[in-house]
Amino acid sequence: MRQGPEILRHGETRLGSPWGEWRVVHYADRGLHYRYLALIRGEIPPEGEVLLRLHRRCAAGELLRAGSCGCGERLEAALAALAQAGAGVLLYLDLPENPGMAAAGGGCPLSRPDPHLAEAAAALLRDLGVKTVRLLTDPEEPAPPPLPGLAVAGRVPLVREASLFPGSTALHGRLADLPGTARRFRHRQGRPLVTLTYAQSLDGSIAARPGHPLAISGPASQTFTHALRAVHNAILVGIGTVLADNPALTVRLVPGPHPRPVIMDTRLRLPAYARLLREGRRQPVVATSDQASPERQQELEDLGALVLRLPVGPNGGIHLPALLNRLAELGVTALMVEGGAQVITSFLNSRLVDQVVVTVAPILVGGVRVLDGYLPAAERRFPRLEGVSYYQVGEDLVLWGSPCWS
Ligand SMILES: NC(=O)c1ccc[n+]([C@@H]2O[C@H](COP(=O)([O-])OP(=O)(O)OC[C@H]3O[C@@H](n4cnc5c(N)ncnc54)[C@H](OP(=O)(O)O)[C@@H]3O)[C@@H](O)[C@H]2O)c1
Repeated sequence: MRQGPEILRHGETRLGSPWGEWRVVHYADRGLHYRYLALIRGEIPPEGEVLLRLHRRCAAGELLRAGSCGCGERLEAALAALAQAGAGVLLYLDLPENPGMAAAGGGCPLSRPDPHLAEAAAALLRDLGVKTVRLLTDPEEPAPPPLPGLAVAGRVPLVREASLFPGSTALHGRLADLPGTARRFRHRQGRPLVTLTYAQSLDGSIAARPGHPLAISGPASQTFTHALRAVHNAILVGIGTVLADNPALTVRLVPGPHPRPVIMDTRLRLPAYARLLREGRRQPVVATSDQASPERQQELEDLGALVLRLPVGPNGGIHLPALLNRLAELGVTALMVEGGAQVITSFLNSRLVDQVVVTVAPILVGGVRVLDGYLPAAERRFPRLEGVSYYQVGEDLVLWGSPCWS
């Protein structure tokens, strides 16, 4: 078998850039002929997945933007994607037999089969303590080679355009600000910031019929929803939604961390086949009542869930202030409440909603209504959104505002 170069760690530094600050670890082969950089964003979790981009040095594409290889654009897009995700690694690989300037017009050098690429990348990742990766890949480039000794949990498309979804820079800026706003909110209020979000038709339907999922929003706003998930550290649904749609609640359409799923389920009806239990990358939290069956609790814990026994509120569901306090203790700063109808109604009735982000799609359904009755309001003063911004995202309209209760 062909042997790759022996690679040694040479030092570490921090560098600022238009994409924020990076920890940069320098490596080289023993003869200092080839140099490698690991650009690290955020923390590398000891067991979790790491978003990874492999980039092979291409002087022509990066410095001169010569030819059609697109290496410079890909490098920038990868740095932007990792910065948006808040965590991940870019390996900048300078390999033996690097075609360098010869790449101009000749295609991306990453596309040329080279056994050293995988060996060098795997050696660096081992040194960094990375075991599982999610690969950022451009669908237009050939699949990268398998990385020896590393698990690949999935792929995330590398989007070369400046924006992951069509929408104003103000909307992108709002997403970027959310984690900081949420941290300050929890510090002040002692509970997570709650974002209520759902997609509805023009007539206010969120589904066609119970148990019949319907894609209401278009592709651009679905991508936006994934970007919104990525800036929350927990996502909550009711057991009705799990039984109807069996959602995974992960971030798949953009790079970014998965929020921790939270399911409200007083009778522990969460089935073993739920994708949240099987495909989830983060331990799901099941909020149940203190009367729930201990045997069912044990079954769900054996499947990897964290079961929280909580008091029941006046209307029979989980007591929402108690749930939010427990989530704050678990480190949740930003909670995205995604539905369904009963859960949305409960959060609004309890006035435990800090911002509302609704996608309105140009479709008429006449199906399951988002609210199944009046919200209690004195003198018909129903909650109204204040400071609303309206964004067109693809064919849909996204409204973002804060409820005013009086
Ligand atoms: N368009 C969208 O954006 C969107 C998003 C999500 C869901 N949906 C749709 O919504 C529908 C499901 O809505 P749904 O109203 O039937 O179910 P749901 O709101 O998802 O879940 C309701 C269930 O959660 C449990 N629960 C526990 N504590 C609660 C509390 N404090 N408040 C409310 N519920 C509590 C209750 O079951 P137990 O009594 O057994 O605990 C309750 O029956 C599906 O058709 C789905 O497709 C649409």
